[in-house]
Order: sequence, then structure tokens, then C-alpha cells
Amino acid sequence: MRQKKVKYATKEILESYDVVVEPKMLDFHEKKVFLEIGSGKGQFITKLAEDNPNNIYIAMEVNINVCYRIMEKKESMKLDNLIIILGDASFLNLYFGLDSIDGIFLNFSDPWPKGKHHKRRLTYPTFLKTYVSLLKDHGFLQFRTDHPALFHESIEYIENFFIITDVNHQLEASAYMTEYEIKKRAIGPIYQLIGKVDKHVKEGL
Ligand SMILES: C[S@@+](CC[C@H](N)C(=O)[O-])C[C@H]1O[C@@H](n2cnc3c(N)ncnc32)[C@H](O)[C@@H]1O
Repeated sequence: MRQKKVKYATKEILESYDVVVEPKMLDFHEKKVFLEIGSGKGQFITKLAEDNPNNIYIAMEVNINVCYRIMEKKESMKLDNLIIILGDASFLNLYFGLDSIDGIFLNFSDPWPKGKHHKRRLTYPTFLKTYVSLLKDHGFLQFRTDHPALFHESIEYIENFFIITDVNHQLEASAYMTEYEIKKRAIGPIYQLIGKVDKHVKEGL
């Protein structure tokens, strides 16, 4: 969906609020680290960060206008444990070392329904391979969507990389919901799956 242009959303302004605007390796000082890719306006990840001050949360978002909205939330909620990256998930390796992340969240990722665009999906095997390499041995992937075809096709990709521990076709509402989830709940079911790193896959990378 096209996002509204935000007049003040420039790289310079975002950088002045400590948003990571150019690739650089991040250091987490042994803390638990959770990454949301494609955070949109940031409601989910900011609430998690607020409720779990001892962990580090990272919002990665490629769109500068919505990234600005995450930064506004971070400022108003005074979140010291949230890092915002203005960047593309295709370049995760430029920010994260191997075995550095405890959990990855994908919420309402773009479905890219046409076959020729499937490789852009954030659940596509090329992305999953990178997630497994960056996750710690006990790490997990949590994927939530309202899009049944994306969900079922993603299960087929994900089961080759993760051990799927939970599949839910009618997820209950919770305290941790994105802007999209709140809207889409009014229309139909919300699907979620959780997978943990498959040690054999990780060893074979
Ligand atoms: C459909 S929106 C969902 C936003 C939010 N997760 C929610 O549920 O409200 C998908 C978001 O993913 C972002 N996105 C898509 N591809 C991305 C990529 N390769 N790297 C980082 N963000 C991406 C888009 O800019 C958009 O904000």
C-alpha cells in the first residue's frame, strides 16, 4: 500500500534521532535481541520494547515515511531499548552477525501474489536461509498474516528451514498487534505460525 509522504522524513532528520540510516554492524552486549522486519508504523515492536526493558528490540523498515512514525513512537514512549533501522531485509548481513538474534517477527508482510514476484516475499527461502544463519541455536521465527495463500505457501517454505511448533488459523487478539492486524481483524481470521531453528539446517549452511 502506498504510504503518505511525511514532510520531515529525511535521512538526516532520522539520523539525528539515532535511526540507523546506513548499514553498520550492530553490537548488543550479550542482551536478548528481537527483530521485526517490515515494522510499518511500529505499534507491535514499540509495545514489546516498552513491556520488556531488559531486551533489545529492532524495527527494520524500508519505507522512510513509515520509519518516521516508528521514530515518533520511540521518542514519545522514551524507549532506550529500541533500535530503528531504515533499511532493506535483503541486506540483513550488513547489520547482524551470525548467531546474534533470539527471535524474528514478520507481521503482515506484503503477500506478492504473482508467481514472478514470490521471491520478494519475506518468507521466501533466500530470506529464510539468512534468518537461520543470524538466529541463535534456540532462536525462533514468528509469522503472522491475514492472507491465506501467503500463509499456506509460506508454511511450505518455512518447514524446510525451521521446526514448526505452532500453527494457528484463528489467532486471538492480544496486547501485541500491529496497525494492520487491528484493521484486518474486522474482516477475517488472522493466521500465525511459530518455528524454531532446525539445528541440522543451521549446521548445514
Ligand atoms: C503490509 S505492510 C505491514 C506493516 C506492519 N508490519 C503491520 O502489520 O502493520 C509491510 C511493510 O513491510 C515493509 N517492507 C517490505 N519489504 C521490506 C524489506 N525488504 N525490508 C524492510 N521492510 C520491508 C513495507 O515498507 C511495509 O511497511
